[in-house]
Amino acid sequence: MEENRAGEIAGLEKRLKAAEESLAKLSVAVEQTRDMVVITARNGNIEYANPSFERVSGYSKDEVFGKTPRILKSGKHGQVFYERFWNAILSGDVFKAEFIDKKKSDEFYCVEKIVTPIRDKDGSVTHFVSVDRDITGHKEMEKTKRLAGLGKLVADMAHEVNNPLMSISGNAQLCLMSVSQIPDQGIRNYLETIVRECQRAKTIVQRLLKFSHPPRGRLKETDINKTLDIVAGMLEHQFKLDNIELVRNYCQEEPLALVDEQQMQEVFINLLNNARDALPAGGSVEIATYRQDGMVRIEIKDNGCGMPEEVSARLFEPFFTTKEKGTGLGLSVCYDIVRAHKGKLQFKSRQREGTTFIILLPEAGSSADV
Ligand SMILES: Nc1ncnc2c1ncn2[C@@H]1O[C@H](COP(=O)(O)OP(=O)(O)OP(=O)(O)O)[C@@H](O)[C@H]1O
Ligand SMILES: [Mg+2]
Repeated sequence: MEENRAGEIAGLEKRLKAAEESLAKLSVAVEQTRDMVVITARNGNIEYANPSFERVSGYSKDEVFGKTPRILKSGKHGQVFYERFWNAILSGDVFKAEFIDKKKSDEFYCVEKIVTPIRDKDGSVTHFVSVDRDITGHKEMEKTKRLAGLGKLVADMAHEVNNPLMSISGNAQLCLMSVSQIPDQGIRNYLETIVRECQRAKTIVQRLLKFSHPPRGRLKETDINKTLDIVAGMLEHQFKLDNIELVRNYCQEEPLALVDEQQMQEVFINLLNNARDALPAGGSVEIATYRQDGMVRIEIKDNGCGMPEEVSARLFEPFFTTKEKGTGLGLSVCYDIVRAHKGKLQFKSRQREGTTFIILLPEAGSSADV
């Protein structure tokens, strides 16, 4: 009898030890994985978050403990999306979807999320395990490739359109000269319209051709504060007339980057013109520079109308414009130029509060420069 009991206890101890060992292994796996793992109670309160979650979201375990994942809500998904999500997991289904969440720093990140309900032995859902894979980099790369493809197509088209356009424009001008003596004002008006519209089309084609001019070859170590000053000087007068205050907030030490100065000026002009357009009733635009982690950071911040999600999602697409007279090429050209300098062009925007464009360029001499 005694012997039997001792044998049972030994067996139990062995199983317990094996279970503990297996738990320890699983725990290491969950702690080490690059995926973000969060466990919540049925009511959504967070009970566990692994180190990857802390690293990506910027929140520490202690900060999120007892809170719900709502703190990560980016506002990028509608009510219907969240309803579908909660209905699925509360009824015990596994939910898989791409989510855009928000870090503690307010930056967005994109994840592939799988939420699995955990049930007790009676089958009731007690907890949820959420495993998120950060796919922000992958999404950005896809977008860069798509935009680069679009840019190339647009540039090729511009080359093709350029020659016939020059010919139409030249011939219309010759006709206009030949009919300058005849009394028919109607014909002259038609021809003048052709010449004027050709001029507009030429401007667009010139902008399109910028897609095909990578900046290599004309790169020079440049003090970005000085480049900004040149551009600000060019636009200052117009800004004053439009009742817009231009505030310069430059970093003390020269922010040096290896750039094609003309192209970088083009970027700043486009961004400042967009800021001006966002302030039809006046306001303020701040130009700020920083040096951080081997990068030069330039911010152009307006307190204008901001933009809704449907605009911000398509911002860098060639020809996307919300303006009556816009070509929709300003930002796609900027994107291309900054990318060709191995930099990044980002933005933050809130409707009715304003927009900040951020340009990151590798600092001259840093390992990341061109
Ligand atoms: N600072 C900003 N504030 C609000 N919306 C902006 C801002 N910058 C850009 N946008 C939006 O992005 C769209 C695209 O900008 P982009 O510079 O590419 O073209 P555009 O300004 O419309 O035309 P173009 O620059 O060719 O004259 C704009 O039409 C506008 O809706
Ligand atoms: Mg523009």
